[in-house]
Amino acid sequence: MSTMDVKLRLAPMTLADLDEVVAIERVSFPTPWTPAAFRYEIQQNRVARCSVMRAERQVVGYLCLWEIGHEVHITNLAVHPDWRHRGVGRAILVAALSEAVARGVTLAFLEVRPGNAPAVALYGSLGFQIIGRRSGYYFDTGEDALVMEARLGDDTVGAVAGNQGTGS
Ligand SMILES: CC(C)(COP(=O)(O)OP(=O)(O)OC[C@H]1O[C@@H](n2cnc3c(N)ncnc32)[C@H](O)[C@@H]1OP(=O)(O)O)[C@@H](O)C(=O)NCCC(=O)NCCS
Repeated sequence: MSTMDVKLRLAPMTLADLDEVVAIERVSFPTPWTPAAFRYEIQQNRVARCSVMRAERQVVGYLCLWEIGHEVHITNLAVHPDWRHRGVGRAILVAALSEAVARGVTLAFLEVRPGNAPAVALYGSLGFQIIGRRSGYYFDTGEDALVMEARLGDDTVGAVAGNQGTGS
């Protein structure tokens, strides 16, 4: 089943979402964010915005970013394993970046592990380009990070984001 068959909806992440979010986080990353880390982003970090994508009531993925001036830095993105490769990750990015574009954001950055082929492919398909490499960035495995950037409003994510609303 593709996401065309289900109604996806992006909403701000709340404390009530944390059990589902942390369950996805734990099966998605070697060093997952803790519940306290999400709580800090939701409640205290004034530049942070975390969103969940729901199919009906179920949280199927989420994204966190920091927004400073005209830039966003994507700090976390994951999709429930049962929902992967069905367009959810793309839908979350497009919806979250559309909202950012509507607030005047023009540039998006992120770091990704070079070996994370699905994520690198997803970002590349939305127009993110590799602009650098941070040596030994991931302390858990010692991997480098690729730094990727998208200029929103060009023929990249901005074009996609500018044409679509929240959800899919
Ligand atoms: C990376 C991740 C968020 C992608 O989410 P997703 O919902 O599976 O992605 P989508 O279905 O929207 O796929 C969009 C594009 O990503 C790429 N992609 C997704 N899964 C892929 C896979 N297993 N292999 C290769 N490319 C893949 C493809 O380019 C795909 O486009 P296509 O469907 O036209 O081929 C998901 O795999 C995940 O949660 N991984 C674990 C956490 C993680 O690595 N987060 C990113 C940290 S930087």
